[in-house]
Amino acid sequence: MNFSYLFIILLLFINNVLSYGYVGHQITASIAQRFLLPKVREHVRELLPKNANGNLYPIASWADRVKFTPKYRFTSRMHYINAPRNNPPDSCTVIYTPGKIDVLNAIHNYTNRLDPKSNLDFWSRAEALRFLVHFLGDLHQPLHVAAKFRGGNGAKAIFEGHNTTLHYIWDSRLINKHIRELGYNFTFSDDNANNFYDGPFFEPYVKYIINLMKTVWKQEVAEWAVCNEEVEYIFEKETQELLKPNSILFEDNNKQTHFEVNSRREKEKYSLNKKQTSVSCPEFWAVPLNRLNCQIVWKDYIPDTELSEGIYYERIKRTRIVEKLLAITGIRIAAVLNSLLG
Ligand SMILES: *[C@@H]1O[C@H](CO)[C@@H](O)[C@H](O)[C@H]1NC(C)=O
Ligand SMILES: *[C@@H]1O[C@H](CO)[C@@H](O)[C@H](O)[C@H]1NC(C)=O
Ligand SMILES: *[C@@H]1O[C@H](CO)[C@@H](O)[C@H](O)[C@H]1NC(C)=O
Repeated sequence: MNFSYLFIILLLFINNVLSYGYVGHQITASIAQRFLLPKVREHVRELLPKNANGNLYPIASWADRVKFTPKYRFTSRMHYINAPRNNPPDSCTVIYTPGKIDVLNAIHNYTNRLDPKSNLDFWSRAEALRFLVHFLGDLHQPLHVAAKFRGGNGAKAIFEGHNTTLHYIWDSRLINKHIRELGYNFTFSDDNANNFYDGPFFEPYVKYIINLMKTVWKQEVAEWAVCNEEVEYIFEKETQELLKPNSILFEDNNKQTHFEVNSRREKEKYSLNKKQTSVSCPEFWAVPLNRLNCQIVWKDYIPDTELSEGIYYERIKRTRIVEKLLAITGIRIAAVLNSLLG
């Protein structure tokens, strides 16, 4: 084994501890892929490496691979935001400060850089696409928007008998458990997931999530991409009401699910939160995501206890929060790309 190979393995190991897991990122990209407008899909293909074959998922974790290299070390603080006055589960707040280096500012930065109007060179835009897909994912891991115990990295826990941390449970272990329970032969080592070109072994899970969007969350999906702080995530209530016509459209077309994301520019006039200068609004989305730390992530957490059962896990199961966050992320990635490149 040569040195660089060993180095990469070490990097992968570290990454698993520090960031929304590889699988999580790949799943959100895979969901987004299904909702890209045909024209956007072609535009995206041009910006992706050839061997990605037009797919977003192979580049979804790229930002984690490069953040320890000298060239990109400056991006490592873009994967999260510290919300210092946070003390979940008792108080949850997150404040956007323009100009800081954090995930909110990074999303704005790379949204602007990906915009064809930026007139940046090819690689700058290709790089912006990779960062944007990744950071929109990180934003939706609630522990990336809460500072307590270094985003839960210092919060010890047990999950399915393994010593681990709250952060790693929310990055990877919950997702891996749910993929496994759907009947896929998944080994926990994550080796498959870490393999860049190993293909979407998580496809059954993605289909399961898409199906929840068509049924249980049908009424909410169109709201997910809207830039409005007041958009709440409804977890307990499951309504069967039909959507307003034209707000969302699922159709069968070459076995792909197409999704008509309302143009954000058009939606904005319904938002009370004025002045949207960007097609993405991480500062609004972060508020309810941060609040999840009080409602679910830190609620009933007891150090060094088993969290894959009991009241803690029951809430996760009942609210389907893991799948819902992946779904919301996928929709938002698609909405941002459709608005920018459509
Ligand atoms: C925006 O992204 C570019 C390219 O990665 C980087 O050089 C710059 O520092 C970023 N700006 C901010 C404010 O993060
Ligand atoms: C888990 O950690 C505890 C101490 O916190 C230790 O006693 C125990 O042996 C560890 N278990 C495993 C399987 O490593
Ligand atoms: C899992 O692997 C076993 C043996 O390799 C195989 O028989 C089984 O069909 C696989 N299950 C799934 C869901 O792929």
